Amino acid sequence: MAPQDAVLGWDEDTTAEAYAAFTRDFPMYSATSRDLARRAHLADSRLVVDLCGGAGATAEAILELAPAQARVISLDNAAAMQRVGRRTLTDPRLTWVTARAEDLADHIPGPADAVVCNSAIWKTDVEAVAAAVGRVLRPGGRFVFNIGGGFAGVRHSDEQAARIAPSLHTLIRQVAAREHGYAPPPAAYTLPKLPLEEVTEHLASAGMTVLDIEVVAQHSTMAEKKAWLSIPIFARPDGDFSHEQRMDILTKAYALTTPDTATVTTWLVVTAQRPREQR
Ligand SMILES: C[S@@+](CC[C@H](N)C(=O)[O-])C[C@H]1O[C@@H](n2cnc3c(N)ncnc32)[C@H](O)[C@@H]1O
Repeated sequence: MAPQDAVLGWDEDTTAEAYAAFTRDFPMYSATSRDLARRAHLADSRLVVDLCGGAGATAEAILELAPAQARVISLDNAAAMQRVGRRTLTDPRLTWVTARAEDLADHIPGPADAVVCNSAIWKTDVEAVAAAVGRVLRPGGRFVFNIGGGFAGVRHSDEQAARIAPSLHTLIRQVAAREHGYAPPPAAYTLPKLPLEEVTEHLASAGMTVLDIEVVAQHSTMAEKKAWLSIPIFARPDGDFSHEQRMDILTKAYALTTPDTATVTTWLVVTAQRPREQR
């Protein structure tokens, strides 16, 4: 089953506009997208899928590496995200499809050379998505995606080393506790949502083999984290707060930090492949 929060919030214009502005101003999504597109080996591609493509940051990275005659389909179920993307990214090779990732196979005209999914897979029904990707990939085609370290239950050594100062998340919880009596959710809530073993099982059931798994560190700053936490869908803390209250808590938490403090985000990057046909 897809998680309850899979769609909620993404199909809101305020989130879509804030998300697109963030991707313009900060490198997080363009950098991770470029990394995945590079791993997908797109030089000879004719059809590439940008799965859960949102406002197009990943499609842009794919278009940079795909040949002139390639077609790119960016599929996402949030029309609001795609409205922003359609406005800003007008490459004629790109088609926008508003649909669930789980229904991918119903929307692809022919075998795909690669499917790339940046920063989204854990929001989907991964078993159904893997099965759909397995159906649309040509033999030898690649499925490349990443999982946020917290969701996969992994942490890069650089992130561990950077944890000397409290994170902005921790400060947000402290401010919310002090000013609003906020109590964090029970520990069970923070168990990894999508561990690697589960992912590899779904890939194997869908007939794909894992070519490579890498834990990568993305280096950024407290200022970027603050901007990211200002996007409505990512704003914290959870619970019964208005967006204005969350932004007030964020401002107070951020005032306790230094803007150019280095922060590190961990990603688990998976490259899978549909096996080539035996001769
Ligand atoms: C963090 S954004 C990533 C967008 C883009 N890949 C990027 O890097 O900027 C996550 C996207 O996943 C989409 N999404 C979540 N669950 C989905 C599903 N089941 N089917 C299609 N899209 C989904 C959301 O609508 C959102 O646009």
